[in-house]
Amino acid sequence: MKKLDDNVFVFEHPLIKHKISIMRAADTSTKNFRELVNEIAMLMCYEVTKDLPLETYELETPIAKTTGYRISGKTLALVPILRAGLGMVEGIMSMIPTAKVGHVGLYRDPVTHDPVEYYCKLPDDIENRSVYVLDPMLATGGSAVAAIKFLKERNVKSIKFLCLVAADEGINHLHSTYPDVTIYCAANDKELNANKYIVPGLGDAGDRIFGTK
Ligand code: PRP
Ligand code: URA
Repeated sequence: MKKLDDNVFVFEHPLIKHKISIMRAADTSTKNFRELVNEIAMLMCYEVTKDLPLETYELETPIAKTTGYRISGKTLALVPILRAGLGMVEGIMSMIPTAKVGHVGLYRDPVTHDPVEYYCKLPDDIENRSVYVLDPMLATGGSAVAAIKFLKERNVKSIKFLCLVAADEGINHLHSTYPDVTIYCAANDKELNANKYIVPGLGDAGDRIFGTK
């Protein structure tokens, strides 16, 4: 993993680079695209969770008593930004089945490209949990900043942002607004086009996950 800045990391694992490249290809099917989103989220989860607190407990193997380890305390909530963030939930839940899931619904206004909120439902105890905000795309950063503002207004203290493709503009926007939020991206692209799509990117992640175009 490469550190771009304090709290900003880009994955360099060969499996992630391989899978992102297949996702970028315009002729990758919806089924394959969706599977790849989940697989990459699962691979990212391994690294992102490395600071989870552990506690010990006694257990008995078929041979002897020994010390076991388990993740301690109220731990995680996943908060996908609808729609496309939903695509990353299953991969992470397969590793952490006890995580709670909240939802923040945002879409980008097609003209202004500003995020518009349309839905929010979070676990009651969200302020006591570490939150992983999930969205495959970080373009201008407007959606990520809006979702994280929403969580901070609800007293969430520990936030990580996981995305697949991040543009420099989005990273800078999010990092300068909330430097305490750790950003993890599977790939870092340099540019946005006139419609604020990431170049080369992978197109509209929501449409490609759900087959809507
Ligand atoms: C996409 C993407 C992010 C946002 C990124 O969502 O999933 O949420 O755009 O762009 P930004 O960094 O410039 O805010 P979109 O608004 O297309 O909604 P969708 O997930 O429902 O397709
Ligand atoms: N949202 C997407 O789905 N793709 C982009 O490239 C930018 C925003």
